Amino acid sequence: MSSPNHELGEKSPSHRPYALNLRQYRFSTLAICLSIAAATTLLVYLPIQWGLVGALPGPNFSVRQEPYHNPFVFDATAKGIVLSRCAEFRATPIPPHAFHLREKSDRYESSTNATLIRNGVIFTGKDNGTDIVRGDILLDKGVIRGLGKISRRVLDSIENLATVDAKGGWVTPGLVDLHTHLGVLSTPILAGAIDFNSAKGPILPYLRTIDGLNTHDAAYELAMAGGVTSAQILPGSSNAIGGQAFMIKLRKPRDRSASSMLIEPPYNLRLPDSDDPGDDAPFRWRYLKQACGENLIGYGNRMDSMWSYRSAYAEALKIKLAQDQYCARAEEGLWDMLDGPLPDDPRWEMLVDVLRGKVKISSHCYEAVDLDAMVRLSNEFQFNIASIHHASEAYLVPSLLKQMWGGVSSVAIFATNHRYKREAFRGSEFAARILADEGIPVVMKSDHPVINSRYLIYEAQQAHYFGLPPGLALAAVTSTPAATAGLSHRIGVLEEGFDADVVLWDSHPLQLGATPRKVWIDGILQIPVPLKSGEENHVQIGRGKEGDKWQQVPDTPNWDLERNLTIAWEGLPPLEGRNTEKTILFTNVKEVWQSSLNGRTARIFAARQNSGRADNSELGSVLVGEGKIICAGYACANVRIDAVTKDLCGGSISPGLMTFGSPIGLEEIASEPSTADGKSYDAFSQDVPRIMGDSGAVVRAMDGLMFGTRNALTAYRSGVTLAISSLARPIYLSGPDAHIISGLSVVFRTGAAHSMQRGAVIQEVAALHVVMGNPYPTSRGVSVSTQIAAIRRLLYGWESTETETGAWFKKAAEGVVPLVIEVDSLDIMANLLRLKLDVEDKIGSRMRMVFSGATEAHLLAKEISDADVGVILNPIRSFPMAWDQRRILPGPPLTNDTALVTLLSHGVVVGLGIRSAWEARNTRFDVKWAALESNGRISDEEAYTLVTDNLVDLLGIRGIGDDMNDLVAFEGGSMFDLASKPIAVISPVRGSVDFF
Ligand SMILES: *[C@@H]1O[C@H](CO)[C@@H](O)[C@H](O)[C@H]1NC(C)=O
Ligand SMILES: *[C@@H]1O[C@H](CO)[C@@H](O)[C@H](O)[C@H]1NC(C)=O
Repeated sequence: MSSPNHELGEKSPSHRPYALNLRQYRFSTLAICLSIAAATTLLVYLPIQWGLVGALPGPNFSVRQEPYHNPFVFDATAKGIVLSRCAEFRATPIPPHAFHLREKSDRYESSTNATLIRNGVIFTGKDNGTDIVRGDILLDKGVIRGLGKISRRVLDSIENLATVDAKGGWVTPGLVDLHTHLGVLSTPILAGAIDFNSAKGPILPYLRTIDGLNTHDAAYELAMAGGVTSAQILPGSSNAIGGQAFMIKLRKPRDRSASSMLIEPPYNLRLPDSDDPGDDAPFRWRYLKQACGENLIGYGNRMDSMWSYRSAYAEALKIKLAQDQYCARAEEGLWDMLDGPLPDDPRWEMLVDVLRGKVKISSHCYEAVDLDAMVRLSNEFQFNIASIHHASEAYLVPSLLKQMWGGVSSVAIFATNHRYKREAFRGSEFAARILADEGIPVVMKSDHPVINSRYLIYEAQQAHYFGLPPGLALAAVTSTPAATAGLSHRIGVLEEGFDADVVLWDSHPLQLGATPRKVWIDGILQIPVPLKSGEENHVQIGRGKEGDKWQQVPDTPNWDLERNLTIAWEGLPPLEGRNTEKTILFTNVKEVWQSSLNGRTARIFAARQNSGRADNSELGSVLVGEGKIICAGYACANVRIDAVTKDLCGGSISPGLMTFGSPIGLEEIASEPSTADGKSYDAFSQDVPRIMGDSGAVVRAMDGLMFGTRNALTAYRSGVTLAISSLARPIYLSGPDAHIISGLSVVFRTGAAHSMQRGAVIQEVAALHVVMGNPYPTSRGVSVSTQIAAIRRLLYGWESTETETGAWFKKAAEGVVPLVIEVDSLDIMANLLRLKLDVEDKIGSRMRMVFSGATEAHLLAKEISDADVGVILNPIRSFPMAWDQRRILPGPPLTNDTALVTLLSHGVVVGLGIRSAWEARNTRFDVKWAALESNGRISDEEAYTLVTDNLVDLLGIRGIGDDMNDLVAFEGGSMFDLASKPIAVISPVRGSVDFF
């Protein structure tokens, strides 16, 4: 997780772990000095206390189960065990000899039929993502048996061969998500299954995520539906060393166990049915999670964290040196000099393995200061860190990263999820490309459930959009994370002898909305999900993406200038545009959209098709003066006005988009209180101060509004010119701090400098907002029935209208202002529909009710439509994060319909929302994606209204006509194209144009 979630897990850091550990360590070595009898007693009891046979004298600890031997009597067997352990210390993890000649995977489930995928365009993941093979791919016994041209002889030898025609579609390795909390923070999140952060100290190398891996996480299937087949399961990041991580495959194994999900489990896990690895078995990689920076605040500051690291590794180093000395004597045959067991300690053995180079470490560290500390730590103790995660400032210090002991690490980042905390403030969308330019391996990751692992490919798509070369962008979610995990001999790459984890896509995987048609893991079909009845599951995928264009790598804009400015300004380049009042002639325009008189937005110009041109269209031009369109079409170039010409290269002009649902404009950095509006009063959980004189403490977001935040300006530069903000946050995100009565929303212009600027505030009060839902998983919050009882009373008009609460609820009851309710549960929505009828009956009114969130609304679409209630889906792509969101309609490839399609087909007025301010910039992609996953049932025009006209209707926003709304000029394509780039905002209110 990217930030410490204090609600999720009690915080009672013990500040004495060192004292404790040191004592125990001395305890076990002390045994050497005790009399044999006493030592024997200790040796028998200690392991029992520790719950680990491994605490027994060395030989038995890490590898094989042997009969108990008294190590002090070095008979031949005991000597053999010591010597083999000493040899093991030196072994480096490598794949078994001739691994790729195997005919059967160790993960093969018997009776799996072989599959031949014919006629694919195969991205193999090799050669930095540049190797593409056209042909077939044969999956047999969990392994890739052939790739490219497969001989008839091989095919004829296989029984029950299933054949799939890829029809020239893209085939990639199953995606590898290097950073997830799948299974240890399972969804829907319930208090009984939060197993990712321990609060028991800063250094916990002995904890193991496999011990908490829930096999019923709803997210496994969703992630597979996004093409993810393997994932690293990391502990949380509120400890310096949070514990051991594990690499898993997401499919449910036949025995339904967590252990069988593991890829090459380390031998010391002692799986019940694992084969004895034998003396020659190569050591397998182990995985460890480390963290830096502000998440460790429970155990002190950055200086404290580094001391906790250094003291822990010093302890491990002592043991390692003692072992090495012991082994040197044993190997020289000086048994007489050894009067005790091989030194070892279950608390430190993991770190000893780190020092022996047997562990792939993932370090969650953001800032230059933290990266520097990690590089020093790695050099002080001489171990490598395999990947730095989040790493918001890695792109600013590439030469520092290259000084990591053992070579440069890969860097695992988000594409556009930045600025949510101070450490991430300088995060950049150009980071992936800059790191790649420096030759540093880039991994894109989800940090699931921070980002739904299902959309890992979207991270790669965005990185590509902002300049990462296509091969590296796909490698960033396949071969690069596999290599980082030390597993590139079997996953993340398609080649003979590799695991049969394969995705067949409906378009080029870097196209927006790319969706897997089929996903195999270990050669077993996972997507489409086989029906329990055994019948084939038909889900329509890829309609609306016919045509060659979708099978090509999407064109992307040139961002060289922005990339360089980002480095020059250390991540904080100025975001304001360059304003001009000059008249501008935009040339080579493909389309122009404008609001029409009836308030709907429509194309007013579309380039004529002209077979003479390569792209078949005859482009027009648009003349803009005083912030208004004077002329659009083919005749504008002839208007005799002095104008500056700007070539849009097949671009477009359209009204700016609107964002709803995040605290944009009410905060700069989400987790920094001093950068935000601050805390207000929730009348349900505390007494409202008498000075307010208002029992419900209704506040106006307008009063806390800030302009010029980086999220607002980034949204502005991305074509999102208007924002609606309120203090409403759903309970599952705000925890015990939820504001049931969350006050009044404001509509403002994202590009304005301050609230007194002309046109900065569109509407001071838009709607009244309340939040309803089941309590937060780990707190006994206010009951749903109490929430509804209070809202009923207020809507009945039983509160004095002399107060803000009484006055605004009266207006809501009378339908003067919309009542927007954050709600996800089917049952609560149904009860709210009943409440609405009841209030309308009593007051004789027609309320304007809107459900926001509304994850389960598709189950009540008809009733919602009949009640004339609007819906703002938020998030746009549903995810069952909380219990009252569990019944999602996930869309293709799992279901034909999405929640959006279902609601629209019932005539519900729908808008789309976001939860976090950084997401506002992605609005145009979110909307296009929603259209793409509708299988052609939502047109671009309809999609557009979801974040413009429909939000205006639902929130009762007045006065946004052509003379008010900004227009956005896109270069190189329409607003929805990955090839396009917003380059200017045309503002009628200010009578000018902002160029970026
Ligand atoms: C991949 O790119 C890295 C960094 O530029 C380079 O060092 C390496 O040689 C490349 N590998 C291949 C197989 O091209
Ligand atoms: C394998 O193929 C055979 C023949 O088509 C079929 O009867 C059998 O059910 C298949 N097995 C599995 C596990 O799908």
